[in-house]
Amino acid sequence: MSITLLSSPLQGFTDFRFRNAFHHYFGGIDTFYAPYIRLDGKMVIKSSYQRDLQLENNSTLEVIPQVMTNDPDGFLFVVKYIQSLGYKELNWNLGCPYPMVTKQGMGSGLICDPEKIDHILKRVHNETDVIVSMKMRMGYETPEEILDVFPILDSYPLKNIAIHARIGKQLYKGGVNLEAFQRCIDSTKHKLYYNGDITTVAKFREMQERFPSIDHFMIGRGLIADPFLPSMIKNNTTEYPANRWQIFSEFHDTIYQQYDAALSGPTPIKMKMLGFWEYFSQSFSNPQKTYKKIKKAGSPRNYTQAVAEILKNERAFSI
Ligand SMILES: Cc1cc2nc3c(=O)[nH]c(=O)nc-3n(C[C@H](O)[C@H](O)[C@H](O)COP(=O)(O)O)c2cc1C
Repeated sequence: MSITLLSSPLQGFTDFRFRNAFHHYFGGIDTFYAPYIRLDGKMVIKSSYQRDLQLENNSTLEVIPQVMTNDPDGFLFVVKYIQSLGYKELNWNLGCPYPMVTKQGMGSGLICDPEKIDHILKRVHNETDVIVSMKMRMGYETPEEILDVFPILDSYPLKNIAIHARIGKQLYKGGVNLEAFQRCIDSTKHKLYYNGDITTVAKFREMQERFPSIDHFMIGRGLIADPFLPSMIKNNTTEYPANRWQIFSEFHDTIYQQYDAALSGPTPIKMKMLGFWEYFSQSFSNPQKTYKKIKKAGSPRNYTQAVAEILKNERAFSI
């Protein structure tokens, strides 16, 4: 069975700079979801979201924009905006677990309100011709919440529902709940995508065996921690390319230069790259030491030196 791999959006990480560099150096991802657009009460699209979705910044990729809202007018406003850029599909985020979001009845905090979901989907389908897809957790308090939403979702022509097999309350703790995900498969007519904790080729194979009807898989954090993962899954191999660290190094330098040019001053670029290294370090032979070394680098010069040393050690280690 041929499988489709999608890059699960990570706000603050998988913007157009990351996506383009990723696609160029590693490949393996068929479609990229852009991180969510949030309006914060105003009918204005922030310039960082605009830059992220402009077609000239995404010319070699298939990208699907995402919105996080519980307001039908806001949803419709974002639909108009993305359609004006030429996008046909908008993904709706019902997964975000953070209390600041869920307490306002958004993200996974909206799953317990099927009526509101129905109202929003009704307006969007009556008033626009946008293709809607969903990205959800299975609930906020319990993984049964989603079961009451499926009858509503089944009455709309959604493209698919991607499910992160956790509940909001968990944040990112604990494991994914695979029994509950199976219940989702059994409870909707919609096409489901699996999302959650695919961090290795072995883990992917485990999910594929457990859910033989699923042929779309979304990878979020695992793809930053090991950018070779999607192409290895696609090539059905656990072998890295011989020039693994050379490719990684070129990828790193590309995003570093672009973020350095886009952010002003040494602190924002340091914080940006440190965020990436929290994930990158996980595929190095000594994750803690690697991360510490980056964290300690106080200046851009020290940072560049630290990266060079880390990669030199890793190359020596892998011979
Ligand atoms: C830092 C961070 C930012 C995220 N931003 C988004 C987002 O903008 N939209 C979204 O749907 N999910 C977002 N997620 C959730 C991921 O897309 C994904 O569903 C989740 O991490 C589980 O998949 P994984 O185990 O493959 O990472 C974010 C997760 C993290 C850790």
